[in-house]
Amino acid sequence: MLKLAVLISGGGRTLANIIEKINEGYLSAQVVVVISSRAGVKGLEIAEREGIPSVVITRKGKTLEQFSNEITAALDKFSPELICLAGFMCFYRIPEHYLGRVMNIHPALLPCFGGKGMYGHRVHEAVLQAGCKVSGCTVHFADNEYDHGPIIIQRTVPVLDDDTADTLAARVFEQEKIAYPQAIKLFAEGRLKIVGRRVRILPE
Ligand code: GAR
Repeated sequence: MLKLAVLISGGGRTLANIIEKINEGYLSAQVVVVISSRAGVKGLEIAEREGIPSVVITRKGKTLEQFSNEITAALDKFSPELICLAGFMCFYRIPEHYLGRVMNIHPALLPCFGGKGMYGHRVHEAVLQAGCKVSGCTVHFADNEYDHGPIIIQRTVPVLDDDTADTLAARVFEQEKIAYPQAIKLFAEGRLKIVGRRVRILPE
């Protein structure tokens, strides 16, 4: 069973989806720890309900280095094999020993509409503003730049004439629910090979 750590900042829908896919038997994994950058969020309630240990590590008043070191120390206690950023809204500087083992999901087709300040509804508003006809989600290995790193899976959705950020976000999220578990499963099966900026999906 793959030992997963999940980093959240709020809603926890991505965490809930990962747990659901584990409970259904689609993913042979175990969430060993949930780290939240905010206290009192719904995602922490989900962790508690599921009996998953959780830690709150806030960003405020700390340097990036202090914040990242705290996260790394919390992760190290649980020896996760894969770390999933799941709506984690802070930048985490990934240490050498976790590079290639941190995944992120972004609600747009990277490398567009990503980067600092591009999260949640802001992303969908920017997509609508730009007049895109398609959007989607991207699961990628995270490196030490915002919303950056080798892409594992992308899934697309149409942008409809009467879309609002809400309706587009909901359509994209349906694809996120498929894409993230798929990427985690491929990782668990040892089928993801990073070659430069590209990820090769190895046959079964
Ligand atoms: C998801 O749509 C995820 O793709 C997005 O935040 C949402 C988290 O929802 N992530 C980003 O925008 C990262 N740049 P949740 O907190 O309910 O799981």
